[in-house]
Amino acid sequence: MTKQIHINEASQYVDQEVVIGVWLADKRSSGKISFLQLRDGTAFFQGVVVKNSVSDQIWEIAKSVHQESSMYVTGVIHEDSRSHFGYEIEISDIELISQSEGYPITPKEHGIEFLLDNRHLWLRSRRPFAIMKIRNEMIRATYEFFNKEGFIKMDSPILTGSAPEGTTELFHIDYFDSDAYLSQSGQLYQEAGAEAFGKVFSFGPAFRAEKSKSRRHLTEFWMIEPEMAFMHQDESLAIQEHYIAFLVQSVLDNCAYELKILERDTDQLKKYTKLPFPRISYDEAVELLQKGGHDFKWGEDFGSPDETFISEQFDQPVFIMNYPKTIKPFYMKEDPKRDDVYLCADLLAPEGYGEIIGGSERETDYEILKQRIVDAGLSLDEYQWYLDLRKYGSVPHSGFGLGLERAITWICKLDHLREAIPFPRMITRIKP
Ligand code: 4AD
Ligand code: MG
Repeated sequence: MTKQIHINEASQYVDQEVVIGVWLADKRSSGKISFLQLRDGTAFFQGVVVKNSVSDQIWEIAKSVHQESSMYVTGVIHEDSRSHFGYEIEISDIELISQSEGYPITPKEHGIEFLLDNRHLWLRSRRPFAIMKIRNEMIRATYEFFNKEGFIKMDSPILTGSAPEGTTELFHIDYFDSDAYLSQSGQLYQEAGAEAFGKVFSFGPAFRAEKSKSRRHLTEFWMIEPEMAFMHQDESLAIQEHYIAFLVQSVLDNCAYELKILERDTDQLKKYTKLPFPRISYDEAVELLQKGGHDFKWGEDFGSPDETFISEQFDQPVFIMNYPKTIKPFYMKEDPKRDDVYLCADLLAPEGYGEIIGGSERETDYEILKQRIVDAGLSLDEYQWYLDLRKYGSVPHSGFGLGLERAITWICKLDHLREAIPFPRMITRIKP
């Protein structure tokens, strides 16, 4: 029996006959030859059907098969230096499994809302395919990196009573007779994990009821949140930059085909594997903005245009360190040299992409933290367990959160976060 393979294995079967289960992505036919663009989820490549080399019945199928029909094709693999992929199949037999009728996403251009309404189908197209494969590689590389560095993965709960990142963007839910929220961040639980296991990370969804219709905000996104005991902020920054460089290198090493589909400049990406990344203070960032003609005062938070401007001044990711206390959450540690800023940093991605990481050293003092919780208007009852972490063996510890879709958007050079997640959730979109 002829061996069944996947398209991405084609290089191992040159000049051999194989069977592949495929969908038809697109088709071009003349009187004598038919070019079928095939996909099987591992790659796209071309199938060639020559009228004179196949039976009339197979030629008829090749001519009449519609976009997104499913079939088994049998044929011999050849090298094809003209295509991205490098191989094609000369088809001798086709077994049609299911003929597809009126597939809505035709090869012509479609508007973004139409494509998002059809996201369940749009995922099959080349560009979403490439982006999702890169997303998968970044998730794989994340586990590899933190494993290698001695972290254990610890899952944070999704249903929670805490609001680490402020109470304005919470999704509230009825939880039997009490209130609960969808998690904004797993951080507080990772801090408990750090005192139990030393170095931990979580990878899970985060929910924010963002009212803004921005290209950088989803209401549901995925976050990687490492937390390290016995670690100060400067050491955490070193881990962050090594992690980012590792992500970029892994995508360069393992997603060359996908980067080609997206026409991403790989020389540009290679620059982001060079360490260290530049570090500037919030104060210096404010100066940059003011010199660049931005109307910005010390103490304000950066908006997207400010972040874009700052990140465009650097050709690598840049850390902005030590933000004013008034614009950051309650759990951060005060800079011992200054009482108006925290020991924290955001990492801004280059090419104008803005914040991809937020992180800090954490406050370790019981009384200070207790006061901060009260000042933030949070309930001490809800946070007693978090305060306990400062009561029983408090240690210096630091952590950070990487927004996966933000990082994908930058590495793939996309215009909008909605393309970086399979089924985006935004203020105006919950379907499909
Ligand atoms: O800066 P944020 O709010 O920090 C935290 O949640 C900390 N608890 C993380 C930590 O220290 N463990 O969010 C972290 C990252 C941001 O830098 C951004 O990349 C991403 O999460 N992010 C969003 N991504 C998509 N849509 C949104 N609405 C996002 N909000 C934050
Ligand atoms: Mg932030």
